[in-house]
Amino acid sequence: MDRLDLLRIVPIFTELDDKVLKKIVEIGLERKYTKNSIVFLEEEIGAILFIIISGKVKIVRTDDEGKEVILSILGTGDFFGEMALLDGLPRSATVVALDKTELFIIHRREFLELMENSPQIATSLMNELTRRLRKANEQIEDLSLKDAVGRVASVIIRLADDIGKIRKGEVVIEDFPVQQDLANMAGTSRETISRTIHQFMRHEYVEQKGNTLIIKDYEKFKNLFS
Ligand code: CMP
Repeated sequence: MDRLDLLRIVPIFTELDDKVLKKIVEIGLERKYTKNSIVFLEEEIGAILFIIISGKVKIVRTDDEGKEVILSILGTGDFFGEMALLDGLPRSATVVALDKTELFIIHRREFLELMENSPQIATSLMNELTRRLRKANEQIEDLSLKDAVGRVASVIIRLADDIGKIRKGEVVIEDFPVQQDLANMAGTSRETISRTIHQFMRHEYVEQKGNTLIIKDYEKFKNLFS
């Protein structure tokens, strides 16, 4: 994707005019990551903001035994790394490339300067952080109040909203995560994921073709499970 077109879809830059966007293209650098490589680890010190040019990353927290919970999966146009950049504390989570991924990076000093010159970046940033907090609140509710089937359904709905494509009432999720990643998103086991998705397929709520998942009637599925 052309860098200027990419920056136009980044939530924190959508309000900016082309002159400022061109400047951002100039100050940014690009980095390439292979599938499954680590972008950075939780607790590392870092002062860089990352924007996804292509590919996907997962944001994870891991416990001492290596068990992980996936907080979010981000794709083209999404940004991450703003938290350590803003508060100066260590990285709050680990970020891993799920595919071959290209990232656009901006250093702290340059990002703060941009924000000073274009205060609408700060407003858009607050909007996006608020959106993420709302989603995190929904996740807390799901994890603490729903049973395993409800949690798996919630993860599917979240993926549909984030990366799904709507087609005549159906939602198509390409690159549907592998079962272990789904388990780490839903706070359950890989076996429960497998069993629940088969149950959804038997009820004809969903269909799976390779790594594409189709929700047959999205409104109905949402009404049943949210
Ligand atoms: P930072 O703490 O610098 O490094 C990890 C990044 O993951 C963090 O900045 C955010 O960009 C991102 N992140 C942390 N928690 C969440 C979440 N709940 N949803 C989406 N992104 C998150």
